[in-house]
Amino acid sequence: MIRIGIIGCGYWGINYVRVFSELPDVTVACVCDTSEDRLRIMHRKFPYVFPTKLLEELLADEQVDAVVVATEASTHYSITKACLLHNKHVLVEKPLTTSIEEGEELVKLAEEKKIKLMVGHTFLYNPAIRKIKEYLSDDDVGSIYYLEATRTHLGLIRKDVNAIWDLAPHDISIFSFLLEAQPFWVSAVSGGFLNNGRPDVGFITLGYPHNILGHIHVSWINSNKVREISVVGSKKRIVFDDLNSMERVRIFEKGAAITGEADSFGEFQLQLRDGDIISPRIDTSEPLKNQCNHFISCLSNGRHPLTDGTNGLNVVRVMEAVNASLKQRGAPVEISRAFVEVSRVPVEISN
Ligand SMILES: NC(=O)c1ccc[n+]([C@@H]2O[C@H](COP(=O)([O-])OP(=O)(O)OC[C@H]3O[C@@H](n4cnc5c(N)ncnc54)[C@H](O)[C@@H]3O)[C@@H](O)[C@H]2O)c1
Repeated sequence: MIRIGIIGCGYWGINYVRVFSELPDVTVACVCDTSEDRLRIMHRKFPYVFPTKLLEELLADEQVDAVVVATEASTHYSITKACLLHNKHVLVEKPLTTSIEEGEELVKLAEEKKIKLMVGHTFLYNPAIRKIKEYLSDDDVGSIYYLEATRTHLGLIRKDVNAIWDLAPHDISIFSFLLEAQPFWVSAVSGGFLNNGRPDVGFITLGYPHNILGHIHVSWINSNKVREISVVGSKKRIVFDDLNSMERVRIFEKGAAITGEADSFGEFQLQLRDGDIISPRIDTSEPLKNQCNHFISCLSNGRHPLTDGTNGLNVVRVMEAVNASLKQRGAPVEISRAFVEVSRVPVEISN
């Protein structure tokens, strides 16, 4: 039996308590939140789980094997560090940290202590994203031209990080997973229309190997709720619409490619493909449950998490480059080739 403690029981943390409570061979032993209101709500829903306001109390409990850190992003570093120092395995929400230095320290600490550190990049456990990965692995879409993500809605406006740090880590982790590559450069601009000192809108462009482009639009102030990712290739376009529960993934068998040699006037023949629109069957399992299952499986079998600390750190590296570009109003910022080359994205998934 693995005993889990959940730190941070807000909007997202409560889902962890529900999901882990449903898994076999796992007990949610303790929940911790600095807010008494949140602890009251937790106690009403899960009366058998011990509630505490004090992180030290949870950490001192030697029966707790592993913890989930589901607090605000700016607190991830200090809370995760404290947990690792108390020899607890950690599943921390995204982003791992808000700086590379902090992320590197946590990865090193987990390695030294031989403790599992996993990051909640939930979309990598989403059956729809896995289905798209299958299509890309089978070379079904032809040459990939670009990926595009839109993540817009009104709110939820965070008090500690901006809209880009809140939302873009999802898409950066998805792009790297699908392409099995890190970007070489980024260019990003933002707008802070609510005047609270933090950008609420962002447009990020990313350059990947083989001239593949990525583009991410995030917004807290757009009344049109969109959660969409497109992969545009020479043979097909794949669209993931997270809000369309009937057809989460659609494959458009249409594309444009150059065929053969240029003619005597130097003009290439363009091949336009037209075909069906396919809506594949997608497994209905809950992404968060898949992620939690994977964490438990890694603890039980000594396996390496798909979204381990290094994977989470890679996302933070891209986010720091995004920050640097924002400061220069969109000037492209190179991401160290050394980092890009060593950080090939692992694709093995086990539940
Ligand atoms: N993976 C996903 O799909 C996904 C979805 C939503 C949120 N998240 C992430 O989850 C995290 C939490 O988001 P949320 O929407 O639940 O935020 P939230 O503000 O609703 O909840 C955070 C909770 O943490 C508590 N907290 C803060 N500091 C604490 C401390 N030192 N000790 C104990 N408790 C503390 C707060 O009181 C609050 O109840 C964020 O990092 C966010 O990015 C991930």
